[in-house]
Amino acid sequence: MANTKSIHGEWSSRFAYILAATGSAVGLGNIWKFPYITGENGGGAFVLVYLACVLAIGIPIMIAETMMGRRGRQSPINTLTSLSTEAGANKNWHYLGWMGVIAGVLILSYYSVIAGWASAYVFKAIFGGFSADAMEVKATFDNFIASPMQLIFWHTVFMIATMSVVRKGVKSGLEKAVQLLMPALLALLLLLVAYAMTTGESYFKGLFFLFSPDFSEIDSDAVLTAMGHAFFTLGLGMGAIMVYGSYLPSGISIAKTTLYIAGADTVVALLAGIAIFPLVFANGLEPASGPGLIFQTLPIAFGNMTGGWLFGILFFVLLVFAALTSSISLIEPIVAWLVENKGYTRDRASIISGTITWALGVTVALSFNAWSEFTILGKTIFNALDYLTANLMLPIGGFCIAVFSAWVMHDKDVRDELDIPELQYVLWKYLISYVAPAAVFLVFLHVLGIF
Ligand code: PFF
Repeated sequence: MANTKSIHGEWSSRFAYILAATGSAVGLGNIWKFPYITGENGGGAFVLVYLACVLAIGIPIMIAETMMGRRGRQSPINTLTSLSTEAGANKNWHYLGWMGVIAGVLILSYYSVIAGWASAYVFKAIFGGFSADAMEVKATFDNFIASPMQLIFWHTVFMIATMSVVRKGVKSGLEKAVQLLMPALLALLLLLVAYAMTTGESYFKGLFFLFSPDFSEIDSDAVLTAMGHAFFTLGLGMGAIMVYGSYLPSGISIAKTTLYIAGADTVVALLAGIAIFPLVFANGLEPASGPGLIFQTLPIAFGNMTGGWLFGILFFVLLVFAALTSSISLIEPIVAWLVENKGYTRDRASIISGTITWALGVTVALSFNAWSEFTILGKTIFNALDYLTANLMLPIGGFCIAVFSAWVMHDKDVRDELDIPELQYVLWKYLISYVAPAAVFLVFLHVLGIF
């Protein structure tokens, strides 16, 4: 099975795959979500738990998920069916693929709403420029999210953009664009970090907040959020990287490419944090301001710096682009399945899955304004979907992927697919068999109050 190709085609090179998979990993999770959840969970200790989860759980599972994708060469649901057949195991494993497909649609429904915010900010940057005054910046944001029509409009624009890329196939066109835009995003983040340094004492306060761990600040739910975020930011546990792995030509090292991708993803998140928290402190804002954090801080920097008008436009354009390269990976598992199993064209598969996701996203957009009083277990629709997917479905999906690759697949097949030096294999096998699943399990027990 190892040398066959996916019916959907292949990446043109190793570099193309790294770019696409980095595109899936780097997105709103790094620049929007990481800073705001770090702010809500007290800073340094949270960051440390998140980094530990990336290392001990995220990287081994990412290797496993990619390996399964490349061996199965189909959409996650069908990959799980054929891999369980190969291993002589129960076919019910394919439900893991279904859980991933559902998680992808649920995540994209709110991801697209937030990407819509970033798209709206491109236009705010072009036509209004940003104010240098923190209160004005906050008022602009508050007025914006209070408007159902605006949020729905921008969510619709972003969903149309996502589906127009997906219908053409994730490989064509995208490879070149990512090549240019990813480095540009990194350059702008570095510029923002340089700006943060001009805030003097607040810069060090920001660094201190991010990197000085105070474990009394976090409880079991914060640990769960940190672990969930490790899955979310790497794009793990729902088949996104599995489906990208299924387009990966044989002979390319999965372990090495995974390390590059996870490294780049972590660097971007930390840079975003270093750029944002000094601004929070310099302007007397609350670190725990929630999902609006970057929209209430970064515009101040653009409002203040020379050339800020242009940089502001560029930054939000790049953020939207980073979101787009992630959103297409969220919907690709279901699209690939509809093409494989229902015989739909990519066009039809994209329209159907995109419409369902869009409709769900409308309810998310309303949860920030008209329906903000409506809660499920004390959470708004946005918060409930985020919690359900990032904190529960992705870690459960990741746990099952770890168990499947370590305990269900035949060791010989896994070795064959990974093709790495013995010592590295033994280390990975240890992490994926014991450390990663046990860590996920213990965090869940801890949240349930059992451990
Ligand atoms: N990793 C993306 C981000 O950090 O924005 C979001 C994401 C992509 C989550 C793909 C899950 C996924 F499968």
